[in-house]
This record gives sequence, structure tokens and C-alpha cells, in this order.
Amino acid sequence: MNADIHALCEKLIPVTYVQQGREARRAHEKKIRNLLEHRKWPEDGWDDATIELLLQELSAMDSNNFMANCGVGEREARIASSLVARRHFRLGHGIGRSGDIAAIQPKAAGSSIIMKLTNAMALDAMKMAGVRSTAACFVVPLATGMSLVLCFLALRQLRPSAKYIIWTRIDQKTCFKSILTAGLQPIIIENCLEGDELRTDVREIERQIQERGAENILCVFSTTSCFAPRVPDRLEEIAKLCKDSGVGHVVNNAYGVQSSKCMHLIQQAARVGRVDAFVQSTDKNFLVPVGGSIIAGTDEKFVDKIAQTFPGRASASPTIDLFITFLSLGAEGYKKLLKERKEMYSYLQDELKTVAEGHGERLLRMPHNPISMAMTLGLQLEDDRKEVSEVGSMLFKRNVSGARVVPRGVTKTIGGYDFTGYGSHCNDYPTGYLTVAAAIGITKEDVDLFVKRLDKVLSKKQDKKTKVEGSEDMKTKVEGFEDMKTKVEGSGDMNHA
Ligand SMILES: Cc1ncc(COP(=O)(O)O)c(C=O)c1O
Repeated sequence: MNADIHALCEKLIPVTYVQQGREARRAHEKKIRNLLEHRKWPEDGWDDATIELLLQELSAMDSNNFMANCGVGEREARIASSLVARRHFRLGHGIGRSGDIAAIQPKAAGSSIIMKLTNAMALDAMKMAGVRSTAACFVVPLATGMSLVLCFLALRQLRPSAKYIIWTRIDQKTCFKSILTAGLQPIIIENCLEGDELRTDVREIERQIQERGAENILCVFSTTSCFAPRVPDRLEEIAKLCKDSGVGHVVNNAYGVQSSKCMHLIQQAARVGRVDAFVQSTDKNFLVPVGGSIIAGTDEKFVDKIAQTFPGRASASPTIDLFITFLSLGAEGYKKLLKERKEMYSYLQDELKTVAEGHGERLLRMPHNPISMAMTLGLQLEDDRKEVSEVGSMLFKRNVSGARVVPRGVTKTIGGYDFTGYGSHCNDYPTGYLTVAAAIGITKEDVDLFVKRLDKVLSKKQDKKTKVEGSEDMKTKVEGFEDMKTKVEGSGDMNHA
């Protein structure tokens, strides 16, 4: 409402009441003005009313919401269902233009402002979470895997003759498939077992660069956040190697924004060596529905290149979700979630250790993995695939989601490449195990319920095993008795003879 409208209101009700109403509205507008002026992630979270007011104002700036609009083009953001229109705050034009996902859309001033502000707040988030040298980033409506493909394809334009990607093995299909989907060939680097941890074999990466020739290698594809017993890659050493040999370096930081350790690794790597791009999913780090990721880098030009590699426009949904979430949480709200996650990590670790030891198992020692942890499954259970897998299905049936059990000796073929010991990030991890993660948003109630259910499942397995052993003993006894009987009967026969 502008001054004219307020003046008209004053003709209906007393002036003081209108003034009070104007002041109240100004409080919302002040937040909006600050955001537009500074383009910074607000420290304190906004109330829903202010966010809705802003979305309403911005959506009124898109052509599909102009009252006088007559659309005669092939894309006019017409929305058939009012339910769909409401789900999107009547924003229908998406983001980007045909040749650049970060470009402004003339038909959609409001959507374009949302995109610009979200990317600006995402940049603050990257810096605040630990990668201070992030130069640019953008939100893309693709989950991690496809965003990695986009990075590889952008890099390929700069190094057209390179066809290999050196990939430090992580047994998560998305990661491996992103290489194949980009039409590149993986060189798989097996991890080294150090204590309980699986760590990067930097010497082997170096050897492969020398053997294949740096010019033939597009990049090293490293990973920070990962399931135990794998730990984040030795990013600094990889980045140095890439810098010295002129090979690219793309980091999969799928759920690493929530961990200061993962972010610190990227920051250090960028400081001492080469990091072309790092990719993080929006759902795993910012508690929004699946659909987006943030592609970031320390060289603004290369980040622009990635944005320009995206063909066509794209859905604005992941951007809008992130926009709302950034405003709703505020930087302080996000920091609080990060702190709580860290506390829950220690709590889950302690509780898991207690349950593991109570069943003759042990918590694997994993000092370098800040999110995921693992306990053995195999010291007391028979370490065969069926037994270990059964723990997984028993947990799943009891509504435990996210726990993964990894038996030994699983083989898998992905895109024609054979993997031994699949799931465990190496050919032959010494034990079957169970992994869980203390990810952002996890609560104490989640942990307490999980350990209670795990304890029950392991007790049940143990009871079953004891019964089987008991019946084995009985069988042995009965067999012994049968033998005795035969002997006695035999002696009777003898007597008779
Ligand atoms: C290390 C890692 N990379 C990538 C992904 C998959 O990413 P997206 O489903 O966002 O493509 C996951 C999923 O959990 C993951 O753990």
C-alpha cells in the first residue's frame, strides 16, 4: 500500500489508527529493504508474514501476474490449476534464459530478483560455513549427481582432449554414474585401510597422472562427506597435486556444508592448491525437499562458465524453497542447527558405542569422519551376508531409516565396471558393519529411539543364534545318544551272536 491508499484509509477510520497500521507495515518493509540493499543473509530469521509479503510483491512483478498482460508467446507461465499456482506463489517463469541459468528473465522480474538474492545468500552460507574463499556460487535445480555432470561438462570445454576422471572410490552410485553420464572414463583409485578408516591413496593419484599424462585427465574427483568407514579425502594434497600438474579438481561436498571440518578441508585445499568447483545438495544441507544443489567455486569466471553450460531455463522451485528457508532460519538459526548437529554427533557416537559393546561388537575408530560413524556387525553375529543384511531389514521394518548395513563380499557392476566389496568403499573391508549419520536436523529423540531399536534387534539376533546353537548342541547330544544306542544294540547283537 502506498501513501495515496493510506490517505484514503484515513477517510474511513481515525488517522491515528491508520498511522499505527502504517508503522506496523514499515517493520516488514524495513527487513525487505535491508535485504535488497545489502543482499546479505539476514542474521535473524524472518516471520512467515514478512516472507509471504515479499513473495507476493515479487510475484506481482512477473508478467503472468500483470492484470493488463496479453501473452502471445509460446511460454507465458500459464498455470491451469490454482493449487499449483498457489504452491508456487504464482511464480511460473522459472529461472534463467535459454543460454544461461543465472541470467535475468525479462518476463520475470520478480523471479529474477529471487534468484539473485538466493544466490547471494547461498554465497554467504558457503563463506559462513567455512569456505571463505568462495568467489561465486549458484543454485541449480538438479541434485548433486547431475550438478557434478554439469561441472565436468563445463571443465571439458576448457580441456577438450581430456577424457579421464581420476576418482577416489566411494561406493555411492550417483558419484560414479556422474562420470559415466558426462561421457568420461573413470580411473578408480582404491582407498587405503589405515586403522579402521579408509583414506585417500594420494601416491596412486600422482602415479596415474604421470602414467596417463596430465593432458588426458580432466580432473580429480574427490569427496568430502561420505559414509564411514571411508573418511573425507586428503583434499589439500589432492589440490596441490592438481595445481602442480595442471589437472582440474571437482569436489563432491554432497552433505558437507553442515560440517565445519568438511568446509575447512575445501578452504585449505583452495588456499594451497586447485579447486575448480565444489557441489553441495540443498536438501541434505538446508532442510528443503530434494531438487537442488549449490555449485560453488573460487574462480568466478569458471562458475559463470558452469552456469552457461546449462541448456535452457529451469525450475525455480528449489531456488524458492531455499530463498524461503534462508529467510526463515536466518544465519543465526542455521548456526544453531549446525551446533546442535555437532552435539548430536557426539551423543550418537557415545550411545552407539554402548550398544555395540553390549553385544560384543565395537564402534569403529573414525576420527576423520565428522558426520557418519560405524559399528562392526560380525564379531558376535556370524559374519555372513545373510545375517548382516537381516539386521538391516529388521531395522527398516522397525521404521529406522538411514541406517545402512554393509556385509562383506558384495559384488556389483555399474556401467560395465565391476566392484568387489561393494558398499564398503574397498575390495575387502575386514568386517561387516552398520553405519549411521548424525546429519543436520537430527534430534536426541531420533538417537534415543534408534539405539533402543538397534539394541532390541541385536538382542533378537543373539537369541536366535543362541537357540540355533542350543538346538545344535541338542542335536549333537541326540546324535551321541543314538551312537550309544547303536553301540549298545550292537553289543546286544554281539551277545546274540
Ligand atoms: C557422497 C554422496 N554423493 C552424492 C549423493 C547423491 O546425491 P544426489 O541424490 O543429491 O544426486 C549422496 C547421497 O546420499 C552421497 O552420499
